[in-house]
Amino acid sequence: MGTLSRIFLFCLTLSFARSGYISCSNATLATPQCDQLHSNDIQIANLQAWNISYHPSLYTDRCNIARSSALSVADFIANFETTEPVIITDVTDNQLFRTLNEKKNLLDSYGDHMVKLSTANTHSYDKTMVLFSDYILYMMEDQVTDRSGKDTLYHFGDNDLENFKPLFDQYIKPPYPSSLLRGTISWGLGGSGTGVPFHTHGAVFAEVLHGMKRWFLYPPGAHPNFDPNDSTLKWMEDIYPLVRENGLYECMLRPGEILYLPHGWWHATLNLGQSVFISVFV
Ligand SMILES: *[C@@H]1O[C@H](CO)[C@@H](O)[C@H](O)[C@H]1NC(C)=O
Ligand SMILES: *[C@@H]1O[C@H](CO)[C@@H](O)[C@H](O)[C@H]1NC(C)=O
Ligand SMILES: *[C@@H]1O[C@H](CO)[C@@H](O)[C@H](O)[C@H]1NC(C)=O
Repeated sequence: MGTLSRIFLFCLTLSFARSGYISCSNATLATPQCDQLHSNDIQIANLQAWNISYHPSLYTDRCNIARSSALSVADFIANFETTEPVIITDVTDNQLFRTLNEKKNLLDSYGDHMVKLSTANTHSYDKTMVLFSDYILYMMEDQVTDRSGKDTLYHFGDNDLENFKPLFDQYIKPPYPSSLLRGTISWGLGGSGTGVPFHTHGAVFAEVLHGMKRWFLYPPGAHPNFDPNDSTLKWMEDIYPLVRENGLYECMLRPGEILYLPHGWWHATLNLGQSVFISVFV
């Protein structure tokens, strides 16, 4: 794509983001977020399952975050709750919830609902409403490096807790008192290579349902090197090679693994394949 058409798409993206509502159902509307609509690669088979393929450059085996299988409540509270991130496995079985989050099931049950999209930059300035089926079918495309975080729309966090309640009710939360007593659900879906750049908030349990997700962490008080408007993908290409040996915690999570992050830890995320994920904020 030439520079001029990139600039054109960039402006168009911004104007749609500002107008507040995108409809991809209308094939005459050439919105850049809906550009897969005009390609022929949406096959019927594609409606069944998420495309969990990803570009090999996104993959890693590196993992320097503690892991614990069947972590007990006592162990969690004594060793991790306020101090250290940990990847927890074998404490819940969310197979049913994963099935409900398969592409076909979400389209069938919730395709006609509206969802709120946020821009994938550190501060998530803009919000846009879109038909959920449009988002699933046309907008969950691969992230490209030269589209900045603020021009990438992403459904995460801003969930319609009322209309999606039957779905979220099926999620079995991590079995720790903070999660069970005070946990608030935050659910999201994104295309391969999408993610949120570095930010911090309260403690959270985060689980991938489909696809995989890379996490990049720094302890509270660290000063990560990043541009809050760049996508995680851009950060990974430009800055990650310079900092990865130097105090960065990272790991790639697969479905069934839960990352626990204590309060205030910096984190950035990167999805591999089309990904569906859920977090419990405590
Ligand atoms: C599609 O576009 C046409 C022409 O602009 C408009 O009349 C129609 O209402 C649109 N349909 C939807 C579903 O947005
Ligand atoms: C699935 O994703 C891969 C990697 O992002 C992409 O190359 C491929 O075209 C996608 N397949 C379909 C059927 O959309
Ligand atoms: C990021 O983008 C926002 C909104 O366009 C702008 O106000 C802000 O100055 C930018 N921040 C940086 C560090 O470039």
